[in-house]
Amino acid sequence: MSPFAHITGWGMSVPEKVLTNEDLAKMVDTTDQWIRDRTGIRERHIASPEQSTATLAVEAAQQALEVANLKPSELDLVIVSTSSPEHIFPPTACLVQDQLGAVKAGAFDLLAACTGFIYAVNIASQAIRSGSAKNILVIGAETLSRFTNWQDRNTCILFGDGAGAFVLQASETPGGVLSTVLRSDGSGADLLSLPAGGSFMPASHETVNNDQHFIHMNGREVFRFATRVMSQATREVVEAANLKLDDVNLIIPHQANLRIIDSAARSLEIPLERFLVNVERYGNTSTASIPIATCEAFQQGRLKPGDNVVFVGFGAGLTWGAALLQWSGPFLPEKPIYPFSYRLWVRIRSFLNRLVRSLEGLIWRSRYPGI
Ligand code: UT7
Repeated sequence: MSPFAHITGWGMSVPEKVLTNEDLAKMVDTTDQWIRDRTGIRERHIASPEQSTATLAVEAAQQALEVANLKPSELDLVIVSTSSPEHIFPPTACLVQDQLGAVKAGAFDLLAACTGFIYAVNIASQAIRSGSAKNILVIGAETLSRFTNWQDRNTCILFGDGAGAFVLQASETPGGVLSTVLRSDGSGADLLSLPAGGSFMPASHETVNNDQHFIHMNGREVFRFATRVMSQATREVVEAANLKLDDVNLIIPHQANLRIIDSAARSLEIPLERFLVNVERYGNTSTASIPIATCEAFQQGRLKPGDNVVFVGFGAGLTWGAALLQWSGPFLPEKPIYPFSYRLWVRIRSFLNRLVRSLEGLIWRSRYPGI
């Protein structure tokens, strides 16, 4: 029988700096009342200049490894889902792999916008089910504040920075990820985009002058699409697991807008109390929103072993999807392992790797000067 993919560790990291609606009202023509009425958001966290997608990802990952009681060196794969990577390449996941000391892991980035975390959980669970991996770290991390036009009131009120991480592990015990639904519709690609900086429209003076390195969004259309797919994907994922909506203990939706979550709840005829909502404190952290909300659900005692939980999200692409899992919690191995003790060693290892690479380069150039 193929092994089951359980979520055994979870962690989150948000920057300390908080940007309130009142702060925003001093920057653009808006009000706290308007933002709260239309989105449910009161404040969001914004990365400091020293922070980046990778630093937030590493902090969330270290917490998740600690909860799972797993050594970074036991990871087989690191997946970072992000729309705000450190660079187009190298993958942010490789920077995270190096900083964690996940010395035996493959690492790659995944871009499916706000739905990315659900896509990443799907890939991780399939890798575990197929037997190709045992321990996988999945991170959703964003610093969308770096791509926000702080003069555009249509978008700047929405987004916040943060990261959340899960450890997925193989086990013969039934449970964990039971079903997933992944969907896309590229005909709506123009509704939410970051137009320039890719191969289609490389960076130029013109793209900078035209604000094309910032998020562009048709809010009304994205809203209409979101209200349609959230309930649809939830129904599909529950059906795929041969369960009924009544069997679902908690729904953790992508935190974009309280009105979208409310509309999904009404369409599913499920009370809003069965949804985890924290958009008021973080805004839309894109692919990080579901794992951050999961950490808070656990802290609030809303996740117990055996509970059926649905993750459901939507975003640019257009993409949308859902995952249904039976919550299990950590496996609690016999020997306590403390990944924090690895931090110093990991830095030394990375430094030594760079040093050896430079020395090898010097020797190579002195031996083969023309090459
Ligand atoms: O992860 C996916 C990311 N994207 C989303 O989830 C976005 C989904 N869409 C939304 O959440 C909503 O469409 C918004 C919150 C972005 C906008 O709410 P809305 O109720 O759809 O407003 P609207 O775009 O229809 O605009 C209504 C009015 C407009 O004025 P007029 O044309 O009626 O005079 C806007 O110019 O509100 C105006 N407006 C604002 N007013 C005050 C737009 N943004 C603001 C603002 N403050 N920040």
